[in-house]
Amino acid sequence: MDKKLRDACGDENVKKLAKQGHFRQGVRNSKKRYPSGAGIQKSTSVPTESICVNLVRTSSYVADADWKLLLSFKKKSNDLVSPILAQKWKLPDGSLMEITKVYPLDAVYDCPEDVPEDVKANKRYAGSTKWTVQEVAEFVKQDFGSIDILVHSLANGPEVTKPLLETSRKGYLAAISASSYSYVSLLKHFAPIMNPGGSSISLTYIASERIIPGYGGGMSSAKAALESDTLVLAFEAGRKHRIRVNTISAGPLGSRAAKAIGFIDMMIDYSSANAPLQKELSADEVGNAAAFLASPLASAITGGVIYVDNGLNAMGVGVDSPIFKDLDIPTDKH
Ligand SMILES: NC(=O)c1ccc[n+]([C@@H]2O[C@H](COP(=O)([O-])OP(=O)(O)OC[C@H]3O[C@@H](n4cnc5c(N)ncnc54)[C@H](O)[C@@H]3O)[C@@H](O)[C@H]2O)c1
Repeated sequence: MDKKLRDACGDENVKKLAKQGHFRQGVRNSKKRYPSGAGIQKSTSVPTESICVNLVRTSSYVADADWKLLLSFKKKSNDLVSPILAQKWKLPDGSLMEITKVYPLDAVYDCPEDVPEDVKANKRYAGSTKWTVQEVAEFVKQDFGSIDILVHSLANGPEVTKPLLETSRKGYLAAISASSYSYVSLLKHFAPIMNPGGSSISLTYIASERIIPGYGGGMSSAKAALESDTLVLAFEAGRKHRIRVNTISAGPLGSRAAKAIGFIDMMIDYSSANAPLQKELSADEVGNAAAFLASPLASAITGGVIYVDNGLNAMGVGVDSPIFKDLDIPTDKH
């Protein structure tokens, strides 16, 4: 990370950055404490922030693609934490959670040699260096030595709004690169600095295994790859590094990325109408599951796809169909 970025991501600024929801991909270091109810939160987003909410206590650090925003945020107000966030960040002992560090990262690039010249020249990257996966892993090692938990909570598919039949090769491969291989790469580079007994978690979606019209551009394929890789990585990383690898299949939540797909509100309504539990899924519920998976309480769980979706994955039919109108199925009016 260059000096400007280091300044931007210093201790004092991290809370301010979190306030804008720029903490996405979290990596936690080796204080072996696993409290609940602590961390960063942004009300609309999924797992990303809320996983931090539940995992983070003392030393934690995050990496994300939006580092230009991190820099611009540095120039803004000195307010540290909004009252709402302050409430959400409160730890059981009454203190506020702290994020130690923020790293810029573009998980589509593994090492500097992979970055094409035109990308380096792009104004998004100008003035910044050392944001590939390998370089961020080196920084984390240098700064923290080792880690216990790695959370992959990112996805991107430039053609996500296109049906698979209309998706280009380029769009399909971009979805796989950003949303699936990025995890393989992160684990490859971070596993060597993960402590034995450590835990790695990614976020997936049921479109990997069931037809969800509207989740296009190869994103369903990318999630299928991510889940398949979870099995193989659980074996390989388990044997080689003694770490666990699981993925959480979250139900629909109105995050920034989900809004870009454009059908998230409909999917939330569908879930409320058809899932066994008729309530809107909260980011905290995903974070709680992540905290469990990351903790020693889950020490024998690896290679799993864990559904956190109010049970929607278990349904074989949509019970809001008029076909079921005479069955007298109990329904929460909402
Ligand atoms: N929102 C949902 O309904 C839902 C449901 C199931 C699973 N998920 C999964 O949860 C994860 C987090 O998504 P979210 O919905 O919280 O959206 P989000 O927009 O809050 O988070 C996505 C993050 O990925 C980052 N990102 C994208 N490309 C990147 C790259 N190349 N390098 C580094 N960072 C990059 C973005 O900057 C963003 O911060 C994703 O894997 C998503 O597929 C979301």
